[in-house]
Amino acid sequence: MFPSQPENPAPSLRAERILVVQYSQTGQQLAALDALLGPLLEAGVPVHRETLRTSPAYPYPWPFWKFLDTFPETVTGDAPALEPLTIPPGAEFGLVIIAYPVWFLSPPPALTAFLLGDDARRLLRGRPVITLTACRNMWIMAQEKIKTLLAGIGARHCDHITLTDRGNAFASFITTPRWLLTGRKNRFWGLPPAGVSERDIHGCARFGRAILSALRAPVAGTASGVSASASSGGASADTPAGALGIPTDASADTPDSTSADTAIATPAAFSTGTFASASTPSTPAAPDAAPAGTPLLAGLRACMVDVKLIASERVGARNFHLWAKILRACGRPGSPPRNAMLLVFTAFFLALILTVVPASVVLKTLFAPLLRKKLARAAALYEQPSGSGGERLALFS
Ligand SMILES: Cc1cc2nc3c(=O)[nH]c(=O)nc-3n(C[C@H](O)[C@H](O)[C@H](O)COP(=O)(O)O)c2cc1C
Repeated sequence: MFPSQPENPAPSLRAERILVVQYSQTGQQLAALDALLGPLLEAGVPVHRETLRTSPAYPYPWPFWKFLDTFPETVTGDAPALEPLTIPPGAEFGLVIIAYPVWFLSPPPALTAFLLGDDARRLLRGRPVITLTACRNMWIMAQEKIKTLLAGIGARHCDHITLTDRGNAFASFITTPRWLLTGRKNRFWGLPPAGVSERDIHGCARFGRAILSALRAPVAGTASGVSASASSGGASADTPAGALGIPTDASADTPDSTSADTAIATPAAFSTGTFASASTPSTPAAPDAAPAGTPLLAGLRACMVDVKLIASERVGARNFHLWAKILRACGRPGSPPRNAMLLVFTAFFLALILTVVPASVVLKTLFAPLLRKKLARAAALYEQPSGSGGERLALFS
C-alpha cells in the first residue's frame, strides 16, 4: 500500500509502482504498451511487466484446426493453467495496466485464467485498473466480460483503451486470419497490412503522458481531471496515491471487507453465460463491488465504439456461447465427435458471415433513423469508463 504522506506533499513518482499484465502472440499489444509506457519510464516511474504464459502455450502462427478447436474453451472461460508469475512476493502496485487481444469475442484464455486466480484478487483488489486491447474490430463483448471479472474481484476499473484495425471490415476479414495462420501481416492483393496502424500504436504515448500527469498531480481536481477524493477511502489528497484515487484506508485491503467471497468472478459465472449474454452494457454485477475508479484518460479518444458493430457483437456472442456449449458437450479437444461438430460450426459461422452480416447491414441502414438514439446510448455505455471524447487531446498529444 501507499500510505498517506502529509509531511511530504511533493508527489513521489518512486512510490507509484505500476504493474503491467500483458498477453500478446504477435507482439501487437506489446508495441502499444511500449508507446504508452515510454513517458512513464523516461520519468523514472517503476514498472513491472508481467507476461502471462499458459501451460501449454498457444501456437503462433496458428495451425488452422487448433485455431478452431480453441474456440469452445475460450468462450466458456475454461482457462488453462498459468505459469507462476514473476512478481516478487509482497509487492504492491498503485496502478495496474492490463493489455490483451480479443479471442472469439472473449478475453484470451491467459487473461481469463489470471483474472479468475488468486494473484489477481491479491494484486488488483481496490486498485485502479486500466485495460488496453488491440484487436481486429470486435472488442465490446470481451470487454464486458472483463468488466464483470474486474468488478467481481473488487478492482477499480478506471479506463479502457481500444485500438482496432482501421482497414475496412471486408479487408480485415481476410488479412487478420492470414496474419494469424501464416504469420504474415504485409500488404497483399491490394489489401492493406493487417493489424493496428503504426500511427495508432505510437499515439498511445498520449495515455502515458496523461497517467504521468495524474501521478504528478499534487491535489484533487488537477488538470488531468483526477479527483483524489473520489472513493479514496481516507487517502490524503496530497499524495500521488490520492491522485490516482488509490484507497489508503486499510479497510479497502482487508480480505473480508469487500465482496470477494460473494463475487462473480468464478469459472461457473463464466460458463453459465453471465458474460456471454451481456447483451446490454453492464455495470458491475456484484452489488458491493468496489466503485469504479475515476478515469485518468477521459477526453483522449481512448475508447470508441463502432455503432455498426453493436448488433453483430451481441448476436455473435449469444451464438458463440451456444455453440461453445454444444461443442464441449461433444467431447474433449481432438475427439472425433467434437471434430465433426467443429466442421458443422465452421460451415454455420461462414454462412452467418456471408448472409446474416450483409443482411444486418442493410437492415441497420434502413432502420438507422429509428435506432440512432438507442445505439448512441448503448455506445456511450460500452465506452465507459474513459469515453470517446477528445477534449484533452491537445494537452497530451
Ligand atoms: C483465436 C483468436 C481469435 C480472435 N478473435 C477475435 C475477435 O473475436 N475479435 C477481434 O476483433 N479480433 C480477434 N482476434 C484478433 C486479435 O484480437 C488480435 O488482433 C491478434 O491476435 C493479434 O494480437 P496479439 O499479437 O497482440 O496477441 C482473434 C485472434 C485469435 C488468435
